[in-house]
Amino acid sequence: MSQQSDLIHIFNGIPFTTRSSAELLRSLDSFQAREDDVLLVSYPKSGTHWLAEILKHLYSSKVSLTSAIEFGDVSKLEDLNKVTTKRIIPTHLSYDMLPKDFKAKKCKAIYIIRNPKDTAVSLYHYYRDNPHLPTIEGWSTYLDMFLQGEVVCGSWFDHLLSWEEHRNEMGTLFLYFEAMKKDLFQSVRRISNYLGINMSDAEIQEICKKTTFSEMKSNVEKENNGDPNHTVCALTASRKLIFRKGTVGDWKQYFSNKQNRVFDELYRTKMDASSLAKHIHYEN
Ligand code: A3P
Repeated sequence: MSQQSDLIHIFNGIPFTTRSSAELLRSLDSFQAREDDVLLVSYPKSGTHWLAEILKHLYSSKVSLTSAIEFGDVSKLEDLNKVTTKRIIPTHLSYDMLPKDFKAKKCKAIYIIRNPKDTAVSLYHYYRDNPHLPTIEGWSTYLDMFLQGEVVCGSWFDHLLSWEEHRNEMGTLFLYFEAMKKDLFQSVRRISNYLGINMSDAEIQEICKKTTFSEMKSNVEKENNGDPNHTVCALTASRKLIFRKGTVGDWKQYFSNKQNRVFDELYRTKMDASSLAKHIHYEN
């Protein structure tokens, strides 16, 4: 059984897996961004791989989708420097830990948000199935950890709020998982407009077809090459662990009434001043 101490270390008060070395995290601010870098930002289990796939199709083969900037050891930043094409760089970092040069260069950033209750359930399964995450005791203990920000990448609330507070500095685009489920075409159009990529309606339709949950799940074997350099999420290289259900509202199968009340209360308190909150598909 994996021990918490082998797999997790705390950096800046946030739990990271040991797949993100402390040296790397310490050296992030020395990273040299490029003006045309695009950041793909998320709290874990919010649809990161889905968005990555859409971006790959939007740019066809002209870009490199790198692994998460915080994944690996200190040589990571040098490896990223060697990438010769335009870079799409995923990250689960909160805004304050993001390398300063991305901010100075005003790089484009897309942040995908999902109902935190579904995110919590999805992360719960990730904890159970992913060997890089510690063993957890059960749903109830896990949910307390989630609410207290003691899970990997810290608090969902603080993560989102850190990006919202600085949303204008980089002109971050916020996307919503549930809106993508409802009308993928419109979301892909928003992304292409934001990135300044010209796409016909037919081309967007084609991307929508290739990025449905069932289509992506059916391609897992083909794309599951186990190479950590191709991992979008810093927490695993195994795409098999990613495509579980891909639905909206799965949380209702897990939350007791009391857990739901506690969650709602914290949500109300934390999100009180958030203007993004009105777009979030939050269900009571
Ligand atoms: P579930 O565990 O609820 O199924 P991430 O990529 O950030 O790790 O997020 C993973 C979650 O996104 C998983 O949620 C996964 O099923 C869902 N997902 C991945 N691709 C998807 C798609 N094309 N459509 C809908 N959901 C998708």
